[in-house]
Amino acid sequence: MSDPVQAQYEAYPYPARDPAEEARRLVIGSPSHLLEVNHYLFRGARDFARPFRALVAGGGTGDGAIMLAQQLADAGTGGEVVYLDLSAASRTIAERRAKARKLSNISFHQGSLLDLPAMGLGPFDYIDCCGVLHHLEDPLAGLKALTAVLDEAGGMGLMLYGALGRRGVYDLQAMLGQLCGE
Ligand SMILES: C[S@@+](CC[C@H](N)C(=O)[O-])C[C@H]1O[C@@H](n2cnc3c(N)ncnc32)[C@H](O)[C@@H]1O
Repeated sequence: MSDPVQAQYEAYPYPARDPAEEARRLVIGSPSHLLEVNHYLFRGARDFARPFRALVAGGGTGDGAIMLAQQLADAGTGGEVVYLDLSAASRTIAERRAKARKLSNISFHQGSLLDLPAMGLGPFDYIDCCGVLHHLEDPLAGLKALTAVLDEAGGMGLMLYGALGRRGVYDLQAMLGQLCGE
């Protein structure tokens, strides 16, 4: 495999998840909790009974896509989630999690988000792209590809690794390092 990013996530799908866990808990997080999306992007006024299409770009093992699809299914509004990732191994885990939950409102796609403008999947009311754009040689080209498939009234939840994006993780690593060593 010539793309080292793809090779990494084929070998180490992220985050490590066991589909059997779906019977016990729903992984909840940011940025794509439905209440958070409604609050920050739509001033709390989005009627999810209107068609709602979300893209999870670089969806990994499925945390964001599964949470969003479960919340939309629970709301009974018919909203749908499109999952896209480079990694087949990650996609397989995400698909197994959706199957364990009997979610029928997610479609799964493998490929690069850079190709989104030509894939015919959009437009989207919401795009989650969490921990992905910094992997690209040209992150701005990635952001432009996402913007090209975003509805003009829609919005995005983005996170890039960096000094601020994962502050809490780095602090915890430092604390554990002091307790346990390297
Ligand atoms: C750090 S993981 C984040 C996974 C997920 N968004 C999360 O927060 O749990 C990065 C993911 O981005 C995917 N990825 C990297 N470059 C990509 C690209 N150009 N197009 C689509 N997915 C990509 C990787 O395969 C990997 O699954």
